[in-house]
Amino acid sequence: MRLLIATTNPGKVREYQSLFTGLDLDLVGLKDVGIDVDVDETGDTYAANAELKARTYAQLSGLLTLADDSGLEVAALKGRPGVHSARYAPDSPARIQKLLNEMIDVPDDQRAAQFQCAIVLAAPDGSITTTAGSCDGVIAHEARGTHGFGFDPVFYMPEHSATMAELPEDFKNQISHRAHAAQKMRAILASIARI
Ligand code: IMP
Repeated sequence: MRLLIATTNPGKVREYQSLFTGLDLDLVGLKDVGIDVDVDETGDTYAANAELKARTYAQLSGLLTLADDSGLEVAALKGRPGVHSARYAPDSPARIQKLLNEMIDVPDDQRAAQFQCAIVLAAPDGSITTTAGSCDGVIAHEARGTHGFGFDPVFYMPEHSATMAELPEDFKNQISHRAHAAQKMRAILASIARI
């Protein structure tokens, strides 16, 4: 069965390919099906934004469609940047610098943060299923590591003694917020697309 991953990023399609290995699914991205339409992420929650994308692209493509939305929540910033993470500053280096500046006077024991992710699976008939996942860390005092993307260089995970950007990508893809939500979605997909 074909499953549309609502992204134009081939890296994300590959990540889901590895997460859903063994299921009888043929994963395709938006470019593969010739869709060049943007969806405004106007929802107040990750799940609402993922649903907007999943429903829209399922309707446009006629395919079973999976969309995700994620962000970083920092306790000392009352949960910001949260659902607005992608719009916190113009690009990743600027987002990291802005976060480090906002956190400059925050002591070590108050630097807790969480990555959050929601994944929505939508069928062309309008039915949806949602899963969620999170991942705990603390905001580092400086950026470290070159893997991953976004806030990874300042998301320190004490149990791994490393920032997310210092972890090998295949390991990050087993422990991340997206991985946790995707593992739950895998169980749901397994009942649709048997091995
Ligand atoms: P999206 O859900 O991929 O659009 O992510 C929204 C924003 O949240 C990104 O632009 C990043 O700033 C941040 N973010 C989400 N997931 C991650 C991650 O795994 N690592 C680092 N930053 C992330």
